[in-house]
Amino acid sequence: MADLSGKSVIVTGAAGGIGAPTAALLAERGAKLLIADVDIAGAETVARTVGGIAFHLDLAEEPSIATMVKTALDRFGRVDALCNIAADQSPELYPRDRDIETMEAEVWDRTFRINARGTMLACKHVLGPMKGQGAGAIVNMASNLGLQGSLIQSAYAASKAAIIQLTRSIAASHGKSGIRCNTVSPGLTLTRSVRTTIPREIREIVEADALTPYLGDPRDIAYMVAFLISDEARYITGENFVVDGGTASHMPSYAPMRALFAKG
Ligand SMILES: NC(=O)c1ccc[n+]([C@@H]2O[C@H](COP(=O)([O-])OP(=O)(O)OC[C@H]3O[C@@H](n4cnc5c(N)ncnc54)[C@H](O)[C@@H]3O)[C@@H](O)[C@H]2O)c1
Repeated sequence: MADLSGKSVIVTGAAGGIGAPTAALLAERGAKLLIADVDIAGAETVARTVGGIAFHLDLAEEPSIATMVKTALDRFGRVDALCNIAADQSPELYPRDRDIETMEAEVWDRTFRINARGTMLACKHVLGPMKGQGAGAIVNMASNLGLQGSLIQSAYAASKAAIIQLTRSIAASHGKSGIRCNTVSPGLTLTRSVRTTIPREIREIVEADALTPYLGDPRDIAYMVAFLISDEARYITGENFVVDGGTASHMPSYAPMRALFAKG
């Protein structure tokens, strides 16, 4: 089990469906947390429940990001890890993010502003302090949609592909300073919001492509984040870890073939 005793960790998107359970797991493992989210009421609830300091973060604004890092340094004296979990998944954005032919520049820009630019800026502001410490670990959250083509969410997918490459650049340029940077790419994960907003037939289609008998829940993602920021992962950097029940690992014909074999 990854021990995080005494580590000071910033978690962005910590009020969210994956972020809050991740914050809870990191706290269980001994981490001191800065619980950052644009949803400050949600962040405060998480802070009260799992322990930690709630911070109102707007990833669209660089001064807000700089203040987040300064707050962690003021309160904890150092930043051992940054977990970039936040993403703009507003319900009003999702239906407008389809294919490129119909893409509104505003949808593209807004998606990139939070997911890619915001994640990059959060990394930017912890690199100096981590370099000064001679150590640090960053985990950026992408998605298996950043690895393969899909009929939906072209802007979101491209922003997640950008994060996977951002991770490699940081790992390459800062590895010798003792800073590790990795990406976690979840597949469809059964957060409360996914359970209530994604229609059951869509979930069944996705589940048919998973190699596991079930879709993952937020703790499945949190375990990977906890491991990657722990000292047990000291030799792992620049990598993308797909946590999607094997969905992105196989031939596209998997689900229909399985159905055909089942018929005999
Ligand atoms: N749930 C899934 O099925 C799934 C699948 C693949 C990848 N992911 C990725 O996992 C991460 C977490 O997803 P989730 O399901 O918990 O989403 P979520 O929407 O429940 O949580 C995202 C959090 O980010 C916060 N946020 C949004 N805009 C922000 C901003 N400008 N500044 C600061 N915080 C902001 C939100 O308030 C929210 O708490 C995201 O990066 C998402 O892209 C999720």
